[in-house]
Amino acid sequence: MSVTEILPTNASNPTNASKLALEETTMSVTEILPTNASNNASKPALDQIEWVRQAADVRRMLRIPFFVDLKTKSLSNQEMRDFFLQYYSIVKTSYRMLAAGILNSQPEDADSISHLVRFLETESGGETTHLAYYLRWAEHFGISKDELAAAQPNHKSRAFEDILMGYFSSHDSFVHRAAQLGLEDCAQVLIEGLDQGFKKYNIPTRAYGYLMVHLLLENDEDGHSRWAIDSLANAPELEKRLEEFQAIYRRVYDAFEDAFNGIHDDWQRKAKH
Ligand SMILES: [Fe+2]
Repeated sequence: MSVTEILPTNASNPTNASKLALEETTMSVTEILPTNASNNASKPALDQIEWVRQAADVRRMLRIPFFVDLKTKSLSNQEMRDFFLQYYSIVKTSYRMLAAGILNSQPEDADSISHLVRFLETESGGETTHLAYYLRWAEHFGISKDELAAAQPNHKSRAFEDILMGYFSSHDSFVHRAAQLGLEDCAQVLIEGLDQGFKKYNIPTRAYGYLMVHLLLENDEDGHSRWAIDSLANAPELEKRLEEFQAIYRRVYDAFEDAFNGIHDDWQRKAKH
C-alpha cells in the first residue's frame, strides 16, 4: 500500500513530476519537483509534501519483524512487559515534545504556537488523557504505574526520545512542523499495527482506549495528518527547505522503526537465555 492511502492530500491527480518522482526515487528532490508554476501557491506545496510522503513509504513499518511477530504470535509475559516498558518512551514523548515545541517557539509566532497547542490538547486535554489510557492498557497486562516510572529505556527507545525532543527543542517552527507530519504519518501506521497485534487478546474496552482513541484520531481525514499537512503547506519556506523536510520526515520514520526494532532485539536476546 502506498502512503496515498494514509491520507490523500489535495493532490488527487498526480502531476507528471510526481509520477516521474515515483519511478526515479534515487534522484534528489530538487531535480524532479515542480517549481511554483501555478497561481495557486498551495497546490505545488501540497504536491511536494505528497511526493515526500509517498517516497518515504511509512507503511513499510508494518513489515518489520516486530509488527509481524506481534500479529502472528502470542506474546509471552516477558515479551509483553518489554513492549509496555519500552513503548512508554513513545507515549511520554508524544506530549513532552509538544510542550517543548511550545516553549521553544517564538512568542510572536502565534500560528505555530496554536498549532502545537491544538495537538497537545488532544493528547493531554479532556477527561482521560492519552497517557492515562496507556496506564489502563498496561495495567490490564499486569504492569503498574510504578513499574512504568522505573522503566529503563533501551538505547533505541532513548534515541527515539532524544531525536524527537531534539526537533521540538529547536527554535525553528519549520522543524516542528516537518517532524510533526512525520510523526502523524508514522502514528497512523503503528497504531494500525498495534491494533492488528492486540485484538487477539480480548481486552475490555476500558483497557483498549489508547488504541481506540488513536485509531479514531489518526484515521480521521480531517484529523491529525490533515492539520500537519496544512500547517507545513502554509510554511513560507517550504519550497526552499524541501530537502530538509524530507530529511526530518525520514529521520522521524527511522526513529520509530528503530524503537520497535529495539523491542524486538530485547525479545530475541532474552529468548536465547
Ligand atoms: Fe496520543
